[in-house]
Amino acid sequence: MTDKTILRALKGEVLPTPPVWLMRQAGRYLPEYRATRAQAGDFLSLCYTPDLAAEVTLQPIRRFGFDAAILFADILLLPQALGADLWFETGEGPRMSTTTDMAGVNALKGKDDIHDKLAPVYETCKILSRELPKETTFIGFAGMPWTVATYMIAGRGSKDQAAAHKLKDTDRAAFVALLDKVTDATIEYLSKQVEAGCEVVKLFDSWAGSLKGQDFDDFAVEPAKRITSELKARFPGLPVIAFPREAGDGYIGFAKKTGADCVAIDNSVSPEWAAANVQKDGCVQGNLDPSYMITGSDALVQATKDVVAAFKNGPHIFNLGHGITPEADPENVTLLMETIRNG
Ligand code: CP3
Repeated sequence: MTDKTILRALKGEVLPTPPVWLMRQAGRYLPEYRATRAQAGDFLSLCYTPDLAAEVTLQPIRRFGFDAAILFADILLLPQALGADLWFETGEGPRMSTTTDMAGVNALKGKDDIHDKLAPVYETCKILSRELPKETTFIGFAGMPWTVATYMIAGRGSKDQAAAHKLKDTDRAAFVALLDKVTDATIEYLSKQVEAGCEVVKLFDSWAGSLKGQDFDDFAVEPAKRITSELKARFPGLPVIAFPREAGDGYIGFAKKTGADCVAIDNSVSPEWAAANVQKDGCVQGNLDPSYMITGSDALVQATKDVVAAFKNGPHIFNLGHGITPEADPENVTLLMETIRNG
C-alpha cells in the first residue's frame, strides 16, 4: 500500500515528481460535474446520493489522473447532522439556522447521534474504496471546529467572521461548549469515514487566519491536536493533513504542535518561505494561486515550475492554495498536470 505516492510523501519521502491533487477538484468547472449535479437536482442531494457523490469524486481522477481523490461532501453536513437546518442559496452560498447561546448548543444532538443522517456519506466512502484506481489515495475530510462554528453562529459565510468573534468575546462558555461539541462530533464523523475506507484525513480550517494570538492556539491549534491525537489513537499510522488557512506565521510549528503529518499552505505565503519555515518539519501541501487555473498560458507553466522547484528538497504534495473555482478552464488543469509530470 505504501507505494501510493501521496502516502509516501506523507511519510516524509522526497519524490522526484511531487504527487498532486486539487482542492475542489470535483466541481462546477467540469461539465461532467454539472451534468451529474443536475441529475441529482441540487448540491445537497448530490452529497447524500452515494452513487452520484462517488461518480463526481471519480470524474476528475478519470480526466486528469490525480494522485488523490477527496470524498465528495461538504464541511457543513456535520452541523446539519447535529441538528442545524442547512440550505444553499443559488449563487450566494450556504445558509444555516443559527446557534448563538448555551440553550442553542444544548439543543444540538450528541456526538453519537449524527450517523443516521451521515450514513450516505459513509456509503459513498465504501463505494470509492472499491472503485478508485489502486494507485489513488482516498482522502476523507471535515471542517475544523472554529470554521464550522463560524457558519453555525452567523448562519452563513462572512468575510470577517464577526458574529463568531463576538460570541467568543461575549459568551465564552457557550462558544467553548459549541467548539467542544463540534470537536467531539468531528472525531466520530472522521472515524466512520476511515472505517469506510478513507486512507488520509484532511482538516479544513478555512477561517483560521482570523484567529490571532492566544485565540489561534486555543481554537485552531488545540482542536486540531485533539482531533489528530484521538484519530491516531484509534487508527495508528493514519496520516492527517491540517489546513489552517491564512495562518501566516501560525503555519510555523503547526505540524509539531498538533501531530499532523502535513500542513497545507494557502498562497498568501510564498513557496520559498513555506519551504524554509514549514517544510523543515515535514510534508507540505500547496500552494499555487488558484487564479492560474483561469488565466493559464506560460504564466501558469512558470508559476507551477516555481512551486515544484521551491519544495523539491523536502516532502511535498502539489496543490492549489485554495479551491479551484467554477471559472477555471479544464484545459489549464491538463497543462498543470503535464508541467508537473513532464517537467
Ligand atoms: O472536491 C472537493 O474538494 C471535495 C468536496 C468539498 C466541497 N466542499 C464541495 C463543494 C470540500 C472538501 C468542501 C469543503 C468546504 N465547504 C469548505 C472548506 C474549504 C474551503 O473552500 O475553504 C467550506 C468553507 C465549505 C462550505 C461551502 N460549501 C461553501 C462556502 C460553499 C459555497 C461556495 C461555493 O463554492 O459555491 C459550498 C458549496 C460547495 N461545496 C460546492 C462544492 C463542489 C459548490 C456547490 C455547487 O455545486 O453548487
